[in-house]
Amino acid sequence: MEKIQSLTGMMDLIANKADKDHEANRIFQTEEILRDVFKNYSISEIRTPALEDSSLFKRSVGDTSDIVNKELYSFLDKNDKSITLRPEGTASVIRSIIEKKIDNETNKFWYLGPMWRYERPQKGRYRQFNQAGVEILGYPEGIAELEIVSIICTINKVLGIENSILKINHLGNKESKQNYCDALKKFLMPLSSRLDEKDLQRLKTNPLRVLDSKSPETQEILKEGPKINDYLTNESLDILNLIKNTFSNDCLIQIDHSLVRGLDYYTGFVFEAISSSLGAQNAYLGGGRYDELSKQLGGKDLPAIGMAIGIERLALLAKTYKDNKTLVSFIIISSKIEPKAYKIAHKLRSINNSINIDVQISDGSLKSKLRRANKDNAAYALIIGEDELKSENIIVKSLLDENSEQLVISFKDIESFIKKIK
Ligand code: HAM
Repeated sequence: MEKIQSLTGMMDLIANKADKDHEANRIFQTEEILRDVFKNYSISEIRTPALEDSSLFKRSVGDTSDIVNKELYSFLDKNDKSITLRPEGTASVIRSIIEKKIDNETNKFWYLGPMWRYERPQKGRYRQFNQAGVEILGYPEGIAELEIVSIICTINKVLGIENSILKINHLGNKESKQNYCDALKKFLMPLSSRLDEKDLQRLKTNPLRVLDSKSPETQEILKEGPKINDYLTNESLDILNLIKNTFSNDCLIQIDHSLVRGLDYYTGFVFEAISSSLGAQNAYLGGGRYDELSKQLGGKDLPAIGMAIGIERLALLAKTYKDNKTLVSFIIISSKIEPKAYKIAHKLRSINNSINIDVQISDGSLKSKLRRANKDNAAYALIIGEDELKSENIIVKSLLDENSEQLVISFKDIESFIKKIK
């Protein structure tokens, strides 16, 4: 019969005990470490549904963004309502706090989960991928910017990320942004015959996005064009310098006035962290301030700033492994169920936090169970057969040291042996 395969660009993540460097392990460990960082910063968790009303993303991420234009997974449900698998988390968080009527409060939230974008899959780019995000709500421009960059520097440090640059820019306040967009339009309009279809469209709907163009011709033209920094107020330039100087010892930060983000809701400070170790898809996190979004979605006037991390990309860069616990393989060799032996394993599991105990449940031979223990990189095998059950002893085999003798330890003394394992 024909086998059913996973969808293009969607990965199964299957943990692998033996290979710490395995992609799934790296992703799971990275997620655990991120959760710890968020808790350290006293940020609360928020979990929103994967499916939302399609209009949410059109009104937030924006009609002119690539995400809404061509990457949404949208469907009609059984009631003919258009619903969409979320392509990102920010819009859902704001929808949720407006709905719960907490859009007048200050809050810090984190989330972690799958997102969906119908993109052309390649290394580091998937149609289902995982994001961890942070949204800091209710704080105007200032300390909240520092808090977000502090979280980014901490993540880089705890995961041992090297070759990373945090690019930062400011899109200006309402007035300066408008002035700059007008100047850009005025400059580009007479040259529009040299722009491709996509850039022409951007010029009409959201001129700032032209700066993000992949066309070499457009980039050449832009060299002569107006620069955003000439339009920024001193306050906006000051905040960029403040951020750069505050973290100069922790993170490599570069002010890049050509940085504009692919989502429409940004209003001020924006950033992206890139790494040369990632290849073409080099941004492993991005974000910025989005002070208008709450109002745009029908909520209160709520200043906000946030970021999201691409977990698969961050996991490729991460160097630190959290799960370095010693594995003990517990092998019961018997033709029938042995509750007495199982009870020992149950008890041992609660007495040493730095070890994991894997009870091999199948009724295979000792040889096959030892092979499995070796494959999983277990440090010890604890073996109980019919003879050991009678004599109330356990055989302890060290699997990492071929020369060590196996020990016979009584049921009574096994707890103190297990306690000592590091
Ligand atoms: P974004 O830049 O669209 O921002 O996505 C954030 C990160 O998600 C990217 O830097 C990248 O690492 C990862 N990512 C995006 N698309 C893919 C993909 N197809 N495959 C793998 N990884 C991907 C946002 O989503 C905003 N919501 C960030 C934000 C939060 N702004 C304010 N608050």
